[in-house]
Amino acid sequence: MAGASTPSSYSTTSPVKATASVLVLGAADSTVLGLEGAKAARTALNDAAEAIGFTGSTGTTARVPAPKGVAAESVMLVGLGDFDAASEDVAATHEALRRAAGAALRALDGVETIALALPTATAAEVEAVTVGAGLGAYRFLDYRSEGKTPGELTVIGPKGKSFKAAHDSGAVIAAATNRARDLVNTPPLDLYPESYAEIVRTQAKTRKLKVTVLGEKELQAGGYGGIIGVGQGSTRGPRLVKVEYAPKGAKRHLSFVGKGITFDSGGISLKPAKSMEDMKSDMAGSAAVIQALFGIADLGLPVRVTAWLPLAENMPGSSAQRPSDVLTMRSGKRVEVTNTDAEGRLVLADALSDADSDKPDLLIDVATLTGAQIVALGERTSGVMGAETAREEVVSSATAAGESMWAMPIPEEMLAGFDSTAADLTNSGPRSGGMLAAAAFLREFVGEDTNWAHIDIAGPSFNSSSPFGYTPKAATGAAVRTLIQIAKAAG
Ligand code: BES
Ligand code: MN
Ligand code: ZN
Repeated sequence: MAGASTPSSYSTTSPVKATASVLVLGAADSTVLGLEGAKAARTALNDAAEAIGFTGSTGTTARVPAPKGVAAESVMLVGLGDFDAASEDVAATHEALRRAAGAALRALDGVETIALALPTATAAEVEAVTVGAGLGAYRFLDYRSEGKTPGELTVIGPKGKSFKAAHDSGAVIAAATNRARDLVNTPPLDLYPESYAEIVRTQAKTRKLKVTVLGEKELQAGGYGGIIGVGQGSTRGPRLVKVEYAPKGAKRHLSFVGKGITFDSGGISLKPAKSMEDMKSDMAGSAAVIQALFGIADLGLPVRVTAWLPLAENMPGSSAQRPSDVLTMRSGKRVEVTNTDAEGRLVLADALSDADSDKPDLLIDVATLTGAQIVALGERTSGVMGAETAREEVVSSATAAGESMWAMPIPEEMLAGFDSTAADLTNSGPRSGGMLAAAAFLREFVGEDTNWAHIDIAGPSFNSSSPFGYTPKAATGAAVRTLIQIAKAAG
């Protein structure tokens, strides 16, 4: 896998003096922003915008020749909509900046040098612009004969140490998200439990992090019935990967668990072809948690983080588990598998048991768990369930990071839907409220007092519609920014 991030640096030069192939400027309400000191250039660009009918509505872009007094070769205008720098809703301001930066970089294929001068007055705004640009610059080219990424990026903003630091932190956050996208976009022929564990080992090594990989024998011996059961239908066996970041002096301990089904065929309860098309993305939860951990380590945040990645390929081979098999889980609970396509909760349950026994201060699992998530909340909003404190912390961090997440309940009647005639519970519960039901199942494997939240990213992790803002088609890197934000806020 190639590194997917465009190099990004910070500069305090005046936008008109920036030497670049393209200078990107924001526009709102038919006015070009950020050229306060350069009246002639500003008038010329406002006239150009008017001449081509560019109003600056959200996400639109236009390339125009550089007017006199602008050092760059050309100018790209990007719409900021009804942007109000003085708005009290800072989260909305940051997201508008991220999206504008992203839309600009998405439209700048093969451009050598880009100077980005969107209106920024605070360090957090500089970080937002940098994140949006880094995400918009993402291209997945590993399996293409042709294709170009945008070249070098310079973010222009105010003078001061905190601004430069904010840029650098934004670049780390974008890179982490882009690495998660790479993992999700990689075809399952090349990304399977063993190869995935190797990639994690390599990436952890450069960061001097502790990695433990359990192979099939160890999983058998340790009684990880859920991970073994799901993985046994594939010739490519399952793994459980644990990565630890434990900086000196850290007080808070965060544990992240991510669903890592490298391909979900459904198993013997086989999916129809259409539903299988995007199922290479069924490891997006694991990609989010591991790349968030790496990002947190790269930022040097003073929190302890442990990531757990249960990895398996859900295939219908002749040794596959059958509907009606009973698994003895890591926790000792027995689960009757009534539907082999409800595999995510089986691998998560085992990893949650282990993560829970460390008694972390906050336990979060991230998973492409249910189609019901998409029915309930659509393709862009993740569902967050679990203990109230944990849930609220996740949702507020998501808002700050610019990710759409919404708190959902685990109604008391859900669990009865998992009653089994043969074991402690089945793995497929009631159809109605399927996302909530899956959360009720997971809760059975987490201690009653654990500060636990479950994030269902089935829709948001993979964009099968048109690209927008900083979000491309296919893998999005959902939840990475939220998890990093939690660590930042907790620091
Ligand atoms: N990986 C799927 C969920 C999914 C569906 C993710 C669509 C992304 C897009 C999961 O393993 C699954 O198959 N869930 C079943 C559960 C059911 C059998 C109880 C589902 O949602 O239909
Ligand atoms: Mn499934
Ligand atoms: Zn799945």
